[in-house]
Parts: sequence; structure tokens; C-alpha cells
Amino acid sequence: MHRDRFPGLDDGWARLDGPAGSQMVDSAIEAIAGWMRSGDAANHGGAFRAARRTDALVASTRETVARLLVAEPRGIVFGASMTALTMRFAAAVGRTLAPGDEIVCTRLDHDANVAPWLIAAGRAQARVRFADPAPDTLELPAAAVEAVLGPRTRWVAVTAASNAVGSIPDLPGIVAAARRAGARVFVDAVHATPHRPLDFAALGCDALACSAYKWYGPHVAVLAARPDVLAELTPDKLRPSADTVPERWELGTLPFEALAGVRAAAEFLLTLDRAALRAHEDGLLRAMLEGLGAIDGVTLYGAARERTPTVMFTVAGHTPQAVAAALAREDVAVWDGNYYALELLTHLGLEPAGAVRAGALAYNDADDVRRLVDGVARIAAGS
Ligand SMILES: Cc1ncc(COP(=O)(O)O)c(C=O)c1O
Repeated sequence: MHRDRFPGLDDGWARLDGPAGSQMVDSAIEAIAGWMRSGDAANHGGAFRAARRTDALVASTRETVARLLVAEPRGIVFGASMTALTMRFAAAVGRTLAPGDEIVCTRLDHDANVAPWLIAAGRAQARVRFADPAPDTLELPAAAVEAVLGPRTRWVAVTAASNAVGSIPDLPGIVAAARRAGARVFVDAVHATPHRPLDFAALGCDALACSAYKWYGPHVAVLAARPDVLAELTPDKLRPSADTVPERWELGTLPFEALAGVRAAAEFLLTLDRAALRAHEDGLLRAMLEGLGAIDGVTLYGAARERTPTVMFTVAGHTPQAVAAALAREDVAVWDGNYYALELLTHLGLEPAGAVRAGALAYNDADDVRRLVDGVARIAAGS
């Protein structure tokens, strides 16, 4: 879908590395260049025209991203990466924890939604408990999280979709269970955002983070949080910088030109027909699963009923790194290793070599999948 909107695809590669980072949509590329060419580039808060336009750019980017995530503009924080924002958020939460308090993390999560909580809990002498995905399907039902909730649970940190195997946990059930236990919820929506419409308000979580470079934009991350939670927690900050919400959560000067790209990428996602996108991506997922599943020597991991078009596999007799390198010789881009889903790959006994990951996005097509499947078949056959 909309393949012609992605100039980065013109070199002919089959780009199945989307879960690691998408190609940028043309309107985001133009918006960044346009902002830099205009005389509007300035710092924020000044008394002259360009500074006011810079302020307006930040405000309208917050509004557009808030529309995308169905959150409040006052709850939208920008940062360098989801990792940086989550480290900062978890550190602030850590200051509110008492010894013996508990945080729930999951073994389906990227380490960016695990390590920050381990560090914060460690400093506070709090404890992290892990929810495990179901052994065969790698689904994460609410019951898996409920099993590790307790009277001392303060926060639940959970993914909206696994960046390794695509499983989409039962977030509404998990949020409801956390609420019943009196806990707050932090959602990692980095992998989910390009694949599913998100509704922060309806989900009822307290904070959610995503990264625009996974949804056709530049390398800027977003934290969407309840404004009262952003006001209540205390992040480290400079003295003269604004102490208002959401500004108090942003360190230093924002990357204004990149924000112009974030706004354009969010507008692109908002105009996509999400039902058609879902049907397109589900078709690519089925083709990957059927094609790879029919090859002798290929093991596929996970079989969640609700999942993104992201598959993880190994090929008998070949290291994941060798498979990725062989596919690269045929201009097929996939990832190998653990993609920082360290808990999951360890849980599956796949560390340290990891596994191969291929993921589709809106711009991928049946030919990309055919090239992947044919390439893996040749590798498995040793030809
Ligand atoms: C599910 C998930 N969470 C978090 C991250 C980290 O995002 P960032 O690179 O913005 O720190 C990634 C990046 O791959 C991811 O896929």
C-alpha cells in the first residue's frame, strides 16, 4: 500500500526490517526539508516571528500526535528515543517506590520496557516480577499478568505488541486487572503503532510510549501520559526550563525540524484506511507463515491469534546471522539476533545467537514476501 510514497524503496531491496525502523514517507521528508529551508527555524519562546512559528510547530505537532493516539496534547512529551523517555519516566516513578513495592514486567517486552524498571526498582529496593507468555503461542493473556499482581504492585509495564514475534497482548484485560490491583500501567507501543490504531483514552492506561521512526517518520519518540501523572512525578530538570506539563519532561531544545517530520508522519497514519491496512498486513503475515512454514528445517516461533505481520524463525544448520547475510546478498533485508527482546529470546533458549526476524509494513508487498521465502528455501536446501 502507498509504496510510491516511500522514496527509500527505489533501490529495489525487499525491506523486511521494518520492526527495526521504517522507511520515511515522502511528506515527512519534505516537511523536514521545508522547515529547514524556511526562515522559521528558531528556538522556542522568543518574541519574534520565527520563534513564534517554532512554538506553533511544537504545539501543532503535540496536537496531531495527540489525535493519532487519542490522548491529550498536554500529555504529549517528545524525546530522543522511547528508551530515553522510558528511562526518565521509570526513574521518576522509582522515587515514589518504597522498599518491598513491586513492578510487573513481561518476558514479551523489548528491554526498553524492562531494564528501566529493573534499575528504578533496584534503587528503591523494590521487586520486579515477570509475567510469562504462553509456551506455544507466545500470547500474553490477562491471566499471565494477573498471576504476578499483588497488593504491593505499583506499576505494570507491558508491550502493546512484541517486536520479535508480533504477539498482541490482551491490553484491555491487563489494564483492567492492574486497576483492580490498584496499579498503574505503562505501555510500550513502539511496535504496535504502525499496525493497530491506538486509543490511549479508551485503553485507560497511565502512560504509553512510541517512536515515530517505526511509523514512517524521523527518529523522535513520544510519551503520551495522563497530564496529572506528568504533574505528580518529578523528573530531573534544569532550573530555568519550564516546569509546566508536558514541558518539564523535555530536556534541552527539541529537534524542531524532526518534529515537522513527526507531524507529517502522524498525518499520514491518520489518513490511512486502517481496516484496509490491516487486511493488507494480515495477507502478508499469512503468506510469510505459510511460505516459511512449508520449508524443511525452518522453525517458526509463536502463533498468537492477534499479531502484527512480524515473524521470527531459525533455519536448521545455519546461524541467524548467516541467514540474514545470505538474504542480504539477494537484496532482502531482515534482522538477526535478539532485537533487544532479551527476556523472550532467553526464555526460548535462543540466546546468544538469537533468531531471524522479518516484519512487514504498509509499503511491503507480496513480491517482498516471495523473495524472502524463496531465499530462505535456498538457504535451507543448501543451494
Ligand atoms: C517494542 C519496542 N520497544 C522499544 C524500542 C526502543 O525504541 P527506541 O529505539 O525509540 O528507544 C523498540 C525498538 O526497536 C521496540 O521495537
